[in-house]
Amino acid sequence: MKNAFHKLYGSMPACTTEAPGRVNLIGEHTDYNGGFVLPTLIPQKTLVSLSPRTDRKVHLATMDRDGSIRRFHYYLGEETAQDGWGDYVQGLTWLWAREGQPIQGFDALISSHVPMGAGLSSSAALLVAFSRALRQAFSLDLDDVQIALLCQRVENEFVGARVGIMDQMAISLGDHNHALFLDTRDLSSRRIPLPWDKMDLFVINSGVRHRLMEGGGYNSRRSECEEATHLLNVKQLRDIEAPHRLTGLPDLYQKRARHVVTENQRVLDAVQALESGDMKRLGQLMRESHTSMRDDYEVSVPEIDILVEEALREPQVFGARLTGGGFGGSIVGICEPKQALSVASRIVERASQRFDETPTILVPEPS
Ligand code: GLA
Repeated sequence: MKNAFHKLYGSMPACTTEAPGRVNLIGEHTDYNGGFVLPTLIPQKTLVSLSPRTDRKVHLATMDRDGSIRRFHYYLGEETAQDGWGDYVQGLTWLWAREGQPIQGFDALISSHVPMGAGLSSSAALLVAFSRALRQAFSLDLDDVQIALLCQRVENEFVGARVGIMDQMAISLGDHNHALFLDTRDLSSRRIPLPWDKMDLFVINSGVRHRLMEGGGYNSRRSECEEATHLLNVKQLRDIEAPHRLTGLPDLYQKRARHVVTENQRVLDAVQALESGDMKRLGQLMRESHTSMRDDYEVSVPEIDILVEEALREPQVFGARLTGGGFGGSIVGICEPKQALSVASRIVERASQRFDETPTILVPEPS
C-alpha cells in the first residue's frame, strides 16, 4: 500500500488507517426506527493512505486487488456527487468544511477488501477509514461517535442513501471478539463477548448486489415506516412494544411495522441468549428474524432464501438469516464451534447448484 502510494505521489504517506466491514447478527431495519441492533466486525477491511497538500486540490486513487489503479481529482469547495466511489470522499470534505473542520487538500490512496453491495457496509468502512485518515493527518478533535455521526450524514445528505446509524457506529466502535449491542435512539452501547467456545460464525455473499440509493427498496421501506409511525401517532416505531397495537393499520404498514416491533424484541432476547451462552436460542431468533424479513418486510431475494434454507439443513447450524439492508447481499449464520468453514463450504456447494450467481464464503476468511 505504502509503496503504491509512493509510486503514485512520489513520497511516503503521512498516515495509513483502516476500518473493517460489519456483519449484523440480528436487528435489521430497526436502526432508523430508533431500535436495537447487534453487529460485529468482519476481517475484510478498507485501507487509506493519505498525505496533506498545501493547496486545495484532492487527488484520489483506488487500487483494486489486481493492483490496477483508478484516479479521480477535485478541488475543495467544488464537491459534486457523480454516483461513484469518489462521492463518499467528496461528501466527507463537503460536510467537514460545513462543520468548520480545518482541512486542506490531500493525496490519498484507497484499497478495499470489503465487497461492495454485499450488505457488509463497504461504504461505511470507506467513510470511517477515510475519516480516521483525515483526523490523523489534520489533527482534528473528533471522537469515534462524532466520526460515526458525520459518516452517516455524508450518506444521507450527499450520497442520497437514507441509511441509519448502525454501520458507522459498529465500525467506529466495534471489535472482532464482541457484538456491539447498540440502542440507536440514544446511541448507548454495550460490548457483548462472542463465546467462541460455544459458537462459530459464517458469512456467505450471495453474489446478488444491492444498492441503497434513491429509488431503491431501502428508501421506500424507510418511507413506509414513517407512514406507519404517522398513522400510529407515535414518534418512532420503537415506541410500540407489543405487535397487537398494530391492528387497524392498513395491511402493508402493519407488516412493515410488525417486523420492526418483533425484531426489536428479538435483539433484546438475542443479547440474553448470547450472555447466557444459549446458542440454540440465538439461532432460533436468527431464523425468526429471517422469516420476518422475508415475509413481513419483504427485503429478501430467492438466492438469499436458498442460502438460508441450505444452511438450516446442516445439523451443526444453530441459525442463519439475511444480514444487512437486503435485496441481495449476504447471509450470516452461527454453528457449533470451529465448524464454520466446513459448514459454509457445503452450503455454498449445494446453493450454487440451485441458482446462477456464485456465492462466496467471506467469514471465516478464506486463507
Ligand atoms: C443498511 C443501512 C443500515 C441499516 C441496515 C438494515 O446496512 O446502512 O443503517 O438500516 O441496512 O438493518
